[in-house]
Amino acid sequence: MELNLGGKLAVVTGASKGIGLAITEHLVDAGAHVVAGSRTRGPRLEALGSGGNVTFVPVDLMTGEGATALVAAAAQLGGVDILVNNAGAVTPRPGGFLTVTDEDWNASWSLGVMAAVRTTRAAIPEMLRRGGGAIVTIGSVNAFYPDPGIPDYCAVKAAVTNLTKSLSKELGPQGIRANSVSPGPVSTDLWMGAGGVAEVLGTASGASPQEVADGAVAGTPTGRFTTPDEVADLVLFLASDRAANITGADMTIDGGFITTI
Ligand SMILES: NC(=O)c1ccc[n+]([C@@H]2O[C@H](COP(=O)([O-])OP(=O)(O)OC[C@H]3O[C@@H](n4cnc5c(N)ncnc54)[C@H](OP(=O)(O)O)[C@@H]3O)[C@@H](O)[C@H]2O)c1
Repeated sequence: MELNLGGKLAVVTGASKGIGLAITEHLVDAGAHVVAGSRTRGPRLEALGSGGNVTFVPVDLMTGEGATALVAAAAQLGGVDILVNNAGAVTPRPGGFLTVTDEDWNASWSLGVMAAVRTTRAAIPEMLRRGGGAIVTIGSVNAFYPDPGIPDYCAVKAAVTNLTKSLSKELGPQGIRANSVSPGPVSTDLWMGAGGVAEVLGTASGASPQEVADGAVAGTPTGRFTTPDEVADLVLFLASDRAANITGADMTIDGGFITTI
């Protein structure tokens, strides 16, 4: 399917690795220019940038200045057609709710919600300048699959998914679509890397990281993690004009992890 993304200007947050890097790679492959934001660049994003279709902006999106600087770089290039709010992190709380401090909650909210709020706020005028645009925000199945091991993450993901629906209602008449994607477990550092979910839960339970990961998808219909490339394919479709009448939607990509309708 031709997505007609050639020449589009995209902003991707959390582009240095994992899902955000895959989205950036796919957008570049499709002929878009990506303004890529994260605190570090990483070798794969650096290599991708050598082709001239990536503008890397080192930003900490837990700060207000981060979002402003990222979108300002896109504005210099002509504006924003596509915004992918992807940056995020999860901290497993094996000690439960009582161990999650105010500082923990504020940090989760800052990265999980305010980064998307501020980046979207900055991007909307740049989209209107281009005559419209598409926003895709990466939520999680945890938005509607609460997990006591990550209560702050679940609440934050519910918030950004809810916000996406509000945005779709306000911005639709101005030619801006807003959708969210809710992945189940995806094979990235967030899950499988050092200090990731598998390692932390494994340390707490005495299991190996691989045993924790295997257990997370055991018995699910496909029996495996989603790959970052599979999430990227869905995001590119939603960002493209092929999805011109899809807005306010939340798309689950989880190999059947969620068993209810
Ligand atoms: N993996 C999963 O199973 C899964 C499932 C559902 C939803 N998600 C969501 O998908 C998104 C991407 O997750 P992932 O699995 O790809 O994680 P990842 O591999 O850990 O990548 C996270 C990205 O976010 C960036 N980031 C983190 N903190 C940042 C900050 N303060 N400022 C700017 N950038 C920051 C990181 O870059 P730097 O470290 O260089 O800043 C990195 O590029 C997140 O929103 C996550 O909640 C993931």
